[in-house]
Amino acid sequence: MNTQSDDQPLTIALTKGRILQDTLPLLARCGLNPVEDPEKSRRLIFESKRPGIRFVLLRGADVVTYVRQGAADAGVVGKDMLLEYGAAGLYEPLDLGLAKCSLQTAGFAAGRKDGTRLRVASKFVNVARSFYAAKGVQADIIKLYGAMELAPMLGLVDEIVDIVDTGNTLRANGLVPFEHIADISTRFVVNKAAMRTRHALLTDIIGSLGAVSESS
Ligand code: PRP
Repeated sequence: MNTQSDDQPLTIALTKGRILQDTLPLLARCGLNPVEDPEKSRRLIFESKRPGIRFVLLRGADVVTYVRQGAADAGVVGKDMLLEYGAAGLYEPLDLGLAKCSLQTAGFAAGRKDGTRLRVASKFVNVARSFYAAKGVQADIIKLYGAMELAPMLGLVDEIVDIVDTGNTLRANGLVPFEHIADISTRFVVNKAAMRTRHALLTDIIGSLGAVSESS
């Protein structure tokens, strides 16, 4: 495992996209924000205004890998990514309460036919496999990378496991939610070894982020 030593900057991996838009104001309120606006740059690594801290920008799945392996000390990532890619090796000390949504099953209003083997599309194949197995429902899970709602409409699958926020995308495509699988929000995660070796700084950051996320 590659953990950072004390003379290196503490590395925090941020999830690109909508989570980043919500995370930047929170970091700014703690005086931790990047010196340069990551949304206006092609760089992938940014110094923090607070010396001794730097940020790297990654996709959510890769945030989990970097923090788990210790290549980043901490990260900001959606709970969906932790459920799908595994949170072993990580502490999850803070729910930042950003990008709240849920993971649900969904399909046509006629519902699920009992006793038949289901075809299910999802980005979250591990979550989907565990969910149907726990219910004792036989399901073939097909990995897709986006536009999940199209898959039942075109007959590729019977139903989907996907993120639902407002529910507008389901409604606009003639689908209804079936079962709630998990509540999702953005979490601050820490590599377990880094929590020991960089304890004072990480505890300070967790305290600051926790205080501003509670008050927002
Ligand atoms: C996500 C998700 C749904 C939609 C849900 O897709 O996969 O399609 O948002 O939001 P809603 O309930 O508010 O309509 P995203 O926009 O991330 O695009 P994707 O199809 O590439 O996953």
